[in-house]
Amino acid sequence: MYAKGQLQKHAEEILKEIGIQQSQRVLDCCCGSGTYTIAAAQLVGENGLVYAIDTNSEKLNDLRQRINSRKLQNIKIIEEDVELRVPLQDSFIDIVLLYDIFWYFRPAENKLAALLREVYRAAKPNALISVYPAHLDLDELKNFKNEMENKGFSLENEYSRQLVHEGRIEKGKLLNFKKIENYQVKKLEEQIADLKARLPAHSVSPAMIDRLEKLEEELERAKRNRNSKW
Ligand SMILES: C[S@@+](CC[C@H](N)C(=O)[O-])C[C@H]1O[C@@H](n2cnc3c(N)ncnc32)[C@H](O)[C@@H]1O
Repeated sequence: MYAKGQLQKHAEEILKEIGIQQSQRVLDCCCGSGTYTIAAAQLVGENGLVYAIDTNSEKLNDLRQRINSRKLQNIKIIEEDVELRVPLQDSFIDIVLLYDIFWYFRPAENKLAALLREVYRAAKPNALISVYPAHLDLDELKNFKNEMENKGFSLENEYSRQLVHEGRIEKGKLLNFKKIENYQVKKLEEQIADLKARLPAHSVSPAMIDRLEKLEEELERAKRNRNSKW
């Protein structure tokens, strides 16, 4: 049995290590009863803010009690289904925690893709997305990493350590990603450059011209939505 204080202290060490700092805005996505939420709130201090989102009202009530007993003023609880939306403005969050969410969000399913789209939109350029992939086997983890790369996040580092999981301290992995700024724009520019390099000097096929025009239109759209979409 672990004392709550011990779990809390351990969670704080983990979040300090990934780089949560004073005054930052953190999104704890699917926070549950909030062991990591409270740890994040201690680290960001009174000038920072932690947004704690979950659908489970019982767990959120637990979190409310823990917040009240610690008299914390810098946590905003949001009861919302993050698959539908993350109710925060674009390019707003410094650090997103996706800790132990994969029981509900499986790699390669539409639900996870929808969540990652929202995370991308709400994260600041170069935001850190820290992931604790509990309940994923090796193949699923590989698929998840590919999915993150395709959705505009680059893997910065990955390591094993003791983590807080379901009221225990146990060994697990942490994966830390960065949001790639203007991901969609960069990807389309690469595709256009690649296509142009393959255009023959004479008699370009109508299909190629059509493809090029479509990519250029997509690029214009992506530039208008810079940073908020892939
Ligand atoms: C295993 S708990 C992890 C809690 C916390 N992140 C931690 O590591 O201690 C997963 C949480 O995801 C929440 N969840 C599942 N689907 C969700 C959704 N669509 N929107 C918001 N929260 C969701 C559940 O209610 C549950 O509290």
